[in-house]
Amino acid sequence: MADEVVKLKVTIDGIPVDVAPGTTILNAARQIGGDIVPPAMCYYSKLEGSGGKCRTCLVKVSKGSEKDPRPMPKLVASCRTTVMDGMEVQNITSPEVIEARKGVVEILLINHPLDCPICDQAGECKLQDLGYEHGAEGTRYEFERRTFERIDLGDKIQLHMNRCILCYRCVYVANQLTEEREHGILNRGDHSEISTHIEKALDHDFIGNVIDVCPVGALTDRTFRFKNRVWFTKPIDAHRDCPTCSGKVTLWYKGEEVLRVTGRKDEFGEVEDFICNTCRFETKNTSDWVLEHPTVVEKESVIGANHYKQFDPPAVIKEDADLQLANVAQLHRTERLK
Ligand code: SF4
Ligand code: FES
Repeated sequence: MADEVVKLKVTIDGIPVDVAPGTTILNAARQIGGDIVPPAMCYYSKLEGSGGKCRTCLVKVSKGSEKDPRPMPKLVASCRTTVMDGMEVQNITSPEVIEARKGVVEILLINHPLDCPICDQAGECKLQDLGYEHGAEGTRYEFERRTFERIDLGDKIQLHMNRCILCYRCVYVANQLTEEREHGILNRGDHSEISTHIEKALDHDFIGNVIDVCPVGALTDRTFRFKNRVWFTKPIDAHRDCPTCSGKVTLWYKGEEVLRVTGRKDEFGEVEDFICNTCRFETKNTSDWVLEHPTVVEKESVIGANHYKQFDPPAVIKEDADLQLANVAQLHRTERLK
């Protein structure tokens, strides 16, 4: 007889869910989905060891467990706290959590410049969203802010440390995806900074993923910088037969031009598959790809504003017989390889 699967019951903002032992409160909330999911600026489910740095995911545990119902004395980081059977958690139903999160956002914004109007991440930046949701209009900070020169990490990636919130995600990408430690965080406290020691180019096939995981505009794609605002582009899911990665990407169109290529992101803003640099930086012709359908974006997202809902291949494909043939040929090649 198969072993019975043990499940723990946890209630988040009044909604019960059964989860496997070892599940964190954040992941239990993600199983429920919707507004009760705490924001996460540093946790990334595909990066081992991530989480516990930013405190945006704080929640209140109002009942510890069935066996020990005492509440936890302080708010806890939901990405690092595992559930107990009978646990009751409050997120958006707790004024204390909302107030604490507002404080966390204020701290994250102490050194982060409010340069959204010229930042490439605007429109898909988690800190911008949190700022709108919780940020106070003014600042109470009177001291000089940290400022750094922009650094080009090779010819494809730029680091703008002023915007970095030290979430460590890019460090984990470098450590875990490239199997070589290419950069890290130097110094401590408010002297901490991302560094490659000698500012050497991050030269690895998968290093472009640091751009996708960065929750703010600290690491940007130099092939896309200042090309367009993200809400003027049309994202379309596409794939190609790539020998290095899954080849499943999102193409960001402006008219007939592919302005950038990114990994496909899920509802929590995490990439579904890490993609290689060739897919990201070197294949920006429509004929390189088999187009699938418009990317599904959150209904509140500025990216979806005024956009089509039906699959509508860009004019570049519809009006060019060669590109139509190339797209069909790619499709057949991929089908044969399945
Ligand atoms: S550069 Fe971006 S991903 Fe890296 S630590 Fe800073 S905020 Fe996080
Ligand atoms: S997401 Fe939990 S501490 Fe950053």
